[in-house]
Amino acid sequence: MYACVCAAVTTSQVEATILAGARTVSEIGDKCAAGTGCGTCVDRLCELLEQTEPQGDAVGRFAKSA
Ligand code: FES
Repeated sequence: MYACVCAAVTTSQVEATILAGARTVSEIGDKCAAGTGCGTCVDRLCELLEQTEPQGDAVGRFAKSA
């Protein structure tokens, strides 16, 4: 399923981009072009940023709350 139709970027590709270090919609656009066209997908990209756990963050949060 495409997360961004303009750039033909799938949801999986956006998730991989987030896991590789993208932390903002702008960074996602820089790395895979999603969100750089009409802007319709920006809300979906924000949801993916909130839902996708970057590597290491879960451990970091656990360590801080322990
Ligand atoms: S659908 Fe993503 S920029 Fe248009």
